[in-house]
Amino acid sequence: MLSQGPAHKHPTTISKDRTLDLLAASPKAELHLHIEGTLEPELIFSLARRNGLKLPYPDVEALRRAYAFTDLQSFLDLYYAGADVLRTEADFFDLAWAYFERAARDHVVHAEVFFDPQTHTGRGVGFDVFMPAFARATRRARHELQMTSEWILCFLRDRSEDDALATLAEALPWREHFCGVGLDSAERGNPPAKFSRAFARAADLGLHRVAHAGEEGPPTYVRESLDALGAERIDHGVRAIEDAALVERLVRERVPLTVCPLSNVRLCVFEDLAHHNLPQLLRAGLKVTVNSDDPAYFGGYVNDNLLQLFAVHPELGAAEAYTVLRNSLEASFAPEDTRGAWIAQLDQLWQPADSRAL
Ligand code: ADE
Ligand code: ZN
Repeated sequence: MLSQGPAHKHPTTISKDRTLDLLAASPKAELHLHIEGTLEPELIFSLARRNGLKLPYPDVEALRRAYAFTDLQSFLDLYYAGADVLRTEADFFDLAWAYFERAARDHVVHAEVFFDPQTHTGRGVGFDVFMPAFARATRRARHELQMTSEWILCFLRDRSEDDALATLAEALPWREHFCGVGLDSAERGNPPAKFSRAFARAADLGLHRVAHAGEEGPPTYVRESLDALGAERIDHGVRAIEDAALVERLVRERVPLTVCPLSNVRLCVFEDLAHHNLPQLLRAGLKVTVNSDDPAYFGGYVNDNLLQLFAVHPELGAAEAYTVLRNSLEASFAPEDTRGAWIAQLDQLWQPADSRAL
């Protein structure tokens, strides 16, 4: 059970403006972030130049204009095309390092970052190219930004399970550099159970397991992710709200949902932020976290997601802000004592001003 923090004791004494300031300045964990989705248009152009590649867009503005998505698939088509400029170890390092530097400005103290190996191995760019880059960026972020990070290998669910199993086997020499597996890409028509053997193998290897579910797909995919894959967190999960028994189970089992509000709006899951169901998910008692998914494509990093969402929902106040921040730290795969230390930092910041000096 989530213990009551300082904000719960003084929720009404913290104004909306102060809540937004605290949201921005608080230590937080990012748990749903695709490294390929942090590839900013400027970096796409500079890597294309570095690698002698011609892009089908004349400039950054023209590429940005193409980011008008109608659903998940319309985004994925551009996202996979964009990733084609990533060719060398230096490219992957620059990508990861740019994200870590950007996340540090949002006071991210810990990031669990998805990567899509099949997007790269399928075009001849192997684990020996991207894994050393990710490991080097992780080390540098720890030393220079005091930010910890873990990597989560995602299987592309629109490919076969045999392909996923082969990818996991190929990843084994780099086992120490990733902590878990995930499931992403086109959700509709690709049920989680398709990957039950790959996730069982991952469990045997001691890996954590998460899965995208209930983004565009039905609530049954959320249930199946728990039952067939042993998922410890559900990525998105916003459609779980359509199934009361499922909500009750997610609350009872304290399964974290890594919700990405700006992504959901840009991919037309919700009409706009004002219609996003995060307040409803929180009210139902779900362990909700706020994340950025693919910030280079969806118009904002984690603080943009938090601030824009809290600004438009009158019912989201200080107590809810504290809860989502604390949930992010609690739902991470970091060791318990580390999570406890972050929560102590969070509580220090959220103490009422009158007791802070005592
Ligand atoms: N890959 C990158 N972003 C994704 C998302 N939001 N859903 C599924 N797969 C993804
Ligand atoms: Zn995602």
